[in-house]
Amino acid sequence: MSGTMKRAFGRGGLLLAGLPIACLLGVVAVGLVVGVKAAFPEWMMDLLPMQVLQPLHAFMGVAFVLCGLASGVVIALRRECGGFRGDGLVAPAMFVFVVGSGAAIVLGRGSGVEYIGWPVGMSVFLGLVFLGLAGAVLSRLSALSARTPEGAWLLVIGLVLVAMGLGERSAEIIARPDLTRSLTIEWHALDTFFAGWNAALYGLGMVAIMRPGDQGRRLRGRWLFVLAVFCLLSTFSHHHYMSAQPSVLKWIALTASMLAAVSFARHVWAIAMSWSRHRGGPPERAFFIAAEVWTLVAVGTGILLAVPQLNIWLHGTTAIVSHSMGSMIGVNVMIVMGTLVRYGCPCDAVLAQQMIRRVRWTGVTLVLVCVNLVLAGGVEGVLRVDRTFQEWDPAVRQWLSPLPVLGVLLGLTLTSMCVGVWRSLRTGEQPERRAARAAIEIKPVRMSERVPVGAGTGQ
Ligand code: HEM
Repeated sequence: MSGTMKRAFGRGGLLLAGLPIACLLGVVAVGLVVGVKAAFPEWMMDLLPMQVLQPLHAFMGVAFVLCGLASGVVIALRRECGGFRGDGLVAPAMFVFVVGSGAAIVLGRGSGVEYIGWPVGMSVFLGLVFLGLAGAVLSRLSALSARTPEGAWLLVIGLVLVAMGLGERSAEIIARPDLTRSLTIEWHALDTFFAGWNAALYGLGMVAIMRPGDQGRRLRGRWLFVLAVFCLLSTFSHHHYMSAQPSVLKWIALTASMLAAVSFARHVWAIAMSWSRHRGGPPERAFFIAAEVWTLVAVGTGILLAVPQLNIWLHGTTAIVSHSMGSMIGVNVMIVMGTLVRYGCPCDAVLAQQMIRRVRWTGVTLVLVCVNLVLAGGVEGVLRVDRTFQEWDPAVRQWLSPLPVLGVLLGLTLTSMCVGVWRSLRTGEQPERRAARAAIEIKPVRMSERVPVGAGTGQ
C-alpha cells in the first residue's frame, strides 16, 4: 500500500495523504457528538463536556485545513518542480502539531481562544513550518509561475499570511489588551489567518488543476489586487459590530465587505461561462467544481452576514456556524481532496464517475445541515430580542432536533468520500486503468481565480 503512495507522492507519502484524511474523519467523529449535544445539551454532560468537545471540533477542522494545505504544497512541489530540501520533514512536523495540540486541548491546556485553541508555543512552531513552505514555493516560483502565474503568487502570499495571522493572534493572547482592543486584534488576526489559508488553497488548486499542456491564467490587473488587499485588511470589524470599537472602523469594514460583491459577481459570471465545459474530465474535476460553487455560497452568505441589520440578528447563532462549516467543507475540504486525487489517483472515467457521485451526495447533505443551522439561528435571532434565555433556548433546541440525523448523513457522505479517495490512492496507476485513461477526454478547467476574501472566515 505504502509503495503506491510513495510512487505518487514520494517519501513519506502515506503520512502526507493520511494525516489530512485522519483529521477529517476526526472532525466528523467529534462533530457527530457535537451535533447531538447542540440539540440535547444534557446528554452525557459529565462524560462528554461541551467545553472540551467544542474547541476540539473546531481545532480538528482547522488542523485538517492546515495539514491538507501543507501536504498539498509538498506533493505539488514534488510533482511539478522536483521537491525541495527538507520536504520530508513537513508531514512529521504537522503530525507533531496535531497530536500535541489535540492532547493539550483535551487536557485543558490549550489557549482557550476560538479557532487557535492550541498553546501559544505551538503557533510559533506552526508559523515556522508555514514560513518554510512559503520559502520553498518562493524558491520554485519561476517554474510554478510559468504554468500558472496567479496560482503561484496566491500560494506564496497565502502561506505568508497564515504565519502573519498566527503571529498577530499569539501576540494578542500574550499581551492581553482591554476587551475592545482585544476583539479588534483577535478578528484582524483571524481574518488574516483565514484569508491566508484560503488564498494558499486557491493557489494550490490552480496548480493542481493544470494538466500537461494547460496554461494557467495570467496575473490580474493591479487594481483588483489593491482592492483585494484593502478588503483583506479591513473586513475584520464586521465580526464585532456590537463592540465599542471606533465607528470609522465599522464603516470601513462594511464598505470592504460589500466590495466582496465584486468577487461574488465575477464568480457567478465565471461559473456561468464555464458550466458547459464541466462535463467529463479527470476524477479531480468534481472536487474543484464543488469548490467553485461553494465559494459562491461562502462569499454570498459572508456579504449578507456583514450587513449590520442582519448581523445584529444572527451574530453568535448557529447561522454563523453554517457559514463557517459550509465554507470549510464545501471549499477547503474539496480543494484538499481534489489535490490528493489529482496527484495520487489513476485518471480514468470510472473513477471520475464515482468521485462525482460522492462529491454530489456530500454537497446534498451539507446543504441539509446548513439549512437546519440557518433556520435554528434565525429563530434564535428573533426570539432572543424580547425573551429571556430560559424562554428562547428550548425553542431553539427544538429547531435543532433534526441535526443529529442530518449530521449522521453528512458524516456518512464525508466518510464515504474519504474511503473512496483513500482506496483510489492505494490502487495507484494500474495498467488496465492507464488504458482507460487514454480513452477519456481531458479538458482544462479554469477555477474562478479570485482571492476569496472573507470566504470561510468564520463570520
Ligand atoms: C459531520 C457532522 C458534523 C456535525 C453534526 C457538526 C456540527 C457542528 C455544530 C453543532 C457546531 C456548533 C458548535 C457550537 O459552537 O455550539 C459546529 C461547529 C463547527 N464545525 Fe462542525 N459538524 C460536523 C462536521 C464538521 C466538519 C467536517 C468540519 C470541517 C471540516 C466542521 C467544522 C466546524 C467548525 C470550524 C465549527 C466552528 C464554527 C464557528 O464557531 O464559527 N464541522 N459543528
